[in-house]
Amino acid sequence: MTDPAELVRSLDLEPLWMPLTANRAFKRSPRLVVAAKDLYYTTADGRQVLDGLATLWCVNAGHCRPKIVEAIGRQAGTLDYASSYSLGHPLAFEAARRVVALAPEGFGHVFFTNSGSEAVDTALKIALAYHRLRGEATRTRLVGRERAFHGANFGGISVGGVPAYRKAFAAGLLPAVDHLRHTQDLGARAFVRGQAAAGAELADELENRIIPLHDASNIAAVIVEPVAGAGGVLVPPRGYLARLREICDRHGILLVFDEVITGFGRMGTPFASQFFGVTPDLIVFAKGITSGAVPMGGVLVKKSIYQAFAEAAGGGVELFHGYTYSGHPLASAAALAALDTYAEERLFERAGELAPYFEDGVHALRGLPHVIDCRNLQLIGAVELEPRPGAPGARATDVHTRAWDRGVFVRAIGDTVAFCPPLIAERKHLDALFGVVAEAIRATA
Ligand SMILES: Cc1ncc(COP(=O)(O)O)c(C=O)c1O
Repeated sequence: MTDPAELVRSLDLEPLWMPLTANRAFKRSPRLVVAAKDLYYTTADGRQVLDGLATLWCVNAGHCRPKIVEAIGRQAGTLDYASSYSLGHPLAFEAARRVVALAPEGFGHVFFTNSGSEAVDTALKIALAYHRLRGEATRTRLVGRERAFHGANFGGISVGGVPAYRKAFAAGLLPAVDHLRHTQDLGARAFVRGQAAAGAELADELENRIIPLHDASNIAAVIVEPVAGAGGVLVPPRGYLARLREICDRHGILLVFDEVITGFGRMGTPFASQFFGVTPDLIVFAKGITSGAVPMGGVLVKKSIYQAFAEAAGGGVELFHGYTYSGHPLASAAALAALDTYAEERLFERAGELAPYFEDGVHALRGLPHVIDCRNLQLIGAVELEPRPGAPGARATDVHTRAWDRGVFVRAIGDTVAFCPPLIAERKHLDALFGVVAEAIRATA
């Protein structure tokens, strides 16, 4: 093992502008990982750190899984790159077929991207173009939700609802966007296990406020995360998503589920759509499609929507949109291997089986100092801490740092600490995760 101090000395940290990082603080006290296997990172100083967030909600099959590693290596030596513009390679077609096979009834097509942000923008574009080609070109407005995270691109931050991602870019946000209220209500619904019984009526705001204000004939799509993740883990009240679906149906509005976090087993089903029994028109995915091993995202599209594009194009290009690396061979190979791993190890089912134990672990944090909420659904959960006066976010950041020092990686989002373990987690991993987080909370003033 390289001497960690030596490794840090040998690296010039300055040229890399790290994303979503306090660069100067990080570089004063860098935290480097040099390897990972299954649920653990190896740090530069040789410690094992349990990955309690599937890193960024993405490593669903765990790290460096043999089948995925092997598939990427093999593909790199066989066909490293081929464009998907009017040229094809077998693995992208096969990956699309496999994703469609996991999707709810009615979905028939996949448009590949390289990230969740690109997939969100792709879905918004498909929604706008779809209405236009059907002669409903006035449907140009988009509806997002407060505290939603839909990636960092302009489309995503426009429909997104996390203020920090929007503030500096106000001049560039899409102009015709409304936001539903978020579904969190700590006053009425703190410490709820799973979905709250009350609150479905929050969806009615679409029909009672936004549609009357603009008229449905001007609204193209509503986009929501079935369970909001990066905005602080917000679980929808029972019946909320079904209510949104009904309202969208009544008014000819497309419903888009951003399943970048909830897709590929997180909810014990392939997509959250199946868990909730609510079928959207477009499903945005990324992250778990390759278990994080190679960047990839995409949009699952209903057959009827694709058909409308095909008919309107009259034999020409159906959609003037795409990325150089859409359906990249390495990503496609990683996706197929990840999907095989999920199936062979029954990881989606396992996630569902582990969910009650996970729920107990999350809610065991209730009663610790400053804990004002514990919430969970399937294998996604969070504890929320009371903010320190004048220093919002500081308390959860301290918990995150203390957990890291004690060998567990979790994420602080404001004053919420989020949990989202790889689907290969066992009870002993959850015991370690919540045990360390509890110690970290107790040690934090
Ligand atoms: C729901 C959701 N949508 C979109 C994104 C953006 O994905 P990416 O970072 O791959 O662009 C994220 C990332 O966390 C996400 O959670």
